[in-house]
Amino acid sequence: MSSEMMDYKTIRDEKVVEIEKILTAYLPKEEGFQKIIMEAMAYSLMAGGKRLRPMLMKETYEMFGGEGDLIEPFMAAQEMIHTYSLVHDDLPAMDDDDLRRGRKTTHVVYGEDMGILAGDALLNFAFETAAKAFDMYPEKSLEIGKAIQILGKKAGIYGMLGGQVVDVKETGHQVEKDVLDFIYAYKTGALLESCMMIGATLAGAKPEEIAIVEQIAAKVGLAFQIQDDILDVTSTAEVLGKPIHSDEKNEKTTYVTLFGVEEATRIEEEVSHEAIGLLRSLPGENAYLEWLLNSLIHRKK
Ligand code: IPE
Ligand code: IPE
Ligand code: MG
Ligand code: MG
Ligand code: MG
Repeated sequence: MSSEMMDYKTIRDEKVVEIEKILTAYLPKEEGFQKIIMEAMAYSLMAGGKRLRPMLMKETYEMFGGEGDLIEPFMAAQEMIHTYSLVHDDLPAMDDDDLRRGRKTTHVVYGEDMGILAGDALLNFAFETAAKAFDMYPEKSLEIGKAIQILGKKAGIYGMLGGQVVDVKETGHQVEKDVLDFIYAYKTGALLESCMMIGATLAGAKPEEIAIVEQIAAKVGLAFQIQDDILDVTSTAEVLGKPIHSDEKNEKTTYVTLFGVEEATRIEEEVSHEAIGLLRSLPGENAYLEWLLNSLIHRKK
């Protein structure tokens, strides 16, 4: 391993620590008769995970010259939305998985009722959190409003939730590639698009730059989900922190079932390199972001 790679890994680990401080700061106090739901929110949000989404958001923000803490409520909000998607994805009515981020899933610990409510709570609180940016920087209201619009759209029926709907509906039978591409683009791509677009928007990037950023994130999302599917058949629960063979159990069509691991890996590499090529076409520079996108291709979890 080159010393440069070592350096980037150390930098990444330090960035994760910084992100977790931000998440902790924005979590609600555990108090009141509804205290159990704040505990369940913290249980799922602070369980670890790669923190890829807030990291992508901040790196994109900085690439376009963004400075200061305006981005922080959005970083927290995006990770809350992502975590809610995982809490609900693991429910018995969905993928029915009992391990997440190396811990028992939220519904296993708190019950299915509280699992559903914890997901709902994270989703709502995400918007409360993002809206704190209005009080922090009233002069940035226009950018903040646009960013909240992106946050909502990319998580909802035209984004992650739309993808989960088709994913669930198309379970139990073979799915054509165009439908599978829709599922990946929506269930996984959309939140990554949200992150990078919000970063660019809050930094004051031009609409045409935001459009390129959306394309980059879409490619990263496809590659990311292909690798997630590969790891589901090649990794271990200990390494992943979630059960393996979840897709097979749920009779999901994936890039692995359609093309096999080798071809799926080739496609993943190709799409990732396209994303990095597009990133290089942008005016700003961010060598770490380029390293990060590259590191996702062969990630182990
Ligand atoms: C898991 O996302 C869900 C997918 C979209 C594949 P991550 O692999 O980013 O999960 P965490 O945040 O690291 O736990
Ligand atoms: C889910 O895809 C993507 C989400 C929106 C949660 P998966 O069902 O493959 O995610 P994992 O493997 O459970 O993390
Ligand atoms: Mg799923
Ligand atoms: Mg799942
Ligand atoms: Mg998966």
